[in-house]
Amino acid sequence: MIQGYRTISKSASKMDELQCDYPWTKSPLVACGPMRLIALSSLASEVSKAGGLGFIGAGSDASILASELEKVQTETQGLAEVNDISPVGVGFLLWAGDKLLQEALPILEKYKPAAVWLFAPTEPNQLVRWTEETRRVTQGKSKIWIQVSTVADAIEATRSCQPEVLVVQGTDAGGHGLEKCAGLVSLFPEVDDAISALCTEQSITRPTLVAAGGIMEGRAAAAAFALGAQGVVMGTRYLASPEANIAKGYRDAVLSASDGGITTERGKLYDTLRGTTDWPLRYGGRGVLNESYYDAAKGMSTEENKRLYNEAVKKGDAGWGPNARLTTYAGTGVGLVKEVKSAAAITKEIRENAVRTLKHAGSKL
Ligand SMILES: Cc1cc2nc3c(=O)[nH]c(=O)nc-3n(C[C@H](O)[C@H](O)[C@H](O)COP(=O)(O)O)c2cc1C
Repeated sequence: MIQGYRTISKSASKMDELQCDYPWTKSPLVACGPMRLIALSSLASEVSKAGGLGFIGAGSDASILASELEKVQTETQGLAEVNDISPVGVGFLLWAGDKLLQEALPILEKYKPAAVWLFAPTEPNQLVRWTEETRRVTQGKSKIWIQVSTVADAIEATRSCQPEVLVVQGTDAGGHGLEKCAGLVSLFPEVDDAISALCTEQSITRPTLVAAGGIMEGRAAAAAFALGAQGVVMGTRYLASPEANIAKGYRDAVLSASDGGITTERGKLYDTLRGTTDWPLRYGGRGVLNESYYDAAKGMSTEENKRLYNEAVKKGDAGWGPNARLTTYAGTGVGLVKEVKSAAAITKEIRENAVRTLKHAGSKL
């Protein structure tokens, strides 16, 4: 069978599986990433109500999770009644350790979010423990999504956890990711081939593959589907929705940035300044370059940079922007984010434009 045909038919059946697991969604699947403290119930619910899958970013702390999932129940009434699940996903940062797992389990058991997204373990065994415990307490109703950025991590996660979904995130992504990894165009097909080979060789169920990193609009989503992705995840694009829980200054900094390949960078500086230094060594956060970055590059001490950062916090919205100091985590695609739109409108736009772009490209071949 020719390679292209195999990829397309495999994608089609996996897309059917997604609609079975998340019956309110429309194909192709568009999801909002679990941005910690930014993607709360209002963003996640709106994405799901628009036929996508919204994730709540619990991050490293489960303290607000139950109340956010409670709000989801009212906001999305009727959406997932048949399946007895909450029609949103929840994302966790596994480096937070066993305490987070213990706090999360009773909440997962009660609300059964449609998907549980696992990211950034300190060691691979954490993925196994989270997968087993989540499946146990939700009776398999919460599907396991694992975010990876290398072929080796994709193989390890698939072999040890057999997740329902692998989120393949390329280096362009906003926020945290591996300091060293490839862009989606080369990463995704290599992961896809490696996972196909592994699953055939070991007779294990193939996970669904979704793509993340640098997707801001329909053309990039279409490219991801052409690569073989069965769904797409976006973070940066949703920062410019009123439902994202961020300050106006942050949102304005996203809207005004352009040419993200040179105006954003992945690294540890912003974590250092903000005091969020628990991340495993191989991760860094991608954000828009600003005065904090330029001063550090010129040799300013971390102590002085932190002092100025804390001063900038007091300025509120004026603290963000290229000539200010506060962190604007965003991906290289930030220059394509030009207007504020509702999360529902973004979800619908990406889904429809991706299909239109693919049809248009096909008609020209
Ligand atoms: C501001 C911001 C915060 C994020 N926080 C998290 C997080 O807490 N957990 C997580 O798994 N992913 C997080 N992500 C990554 C997203 O889930 C998603 O994979 C990524 O944004 C996709 O790339 P894009 O930004 O180019 O769309 C974050 C992304 C952004 C932009």
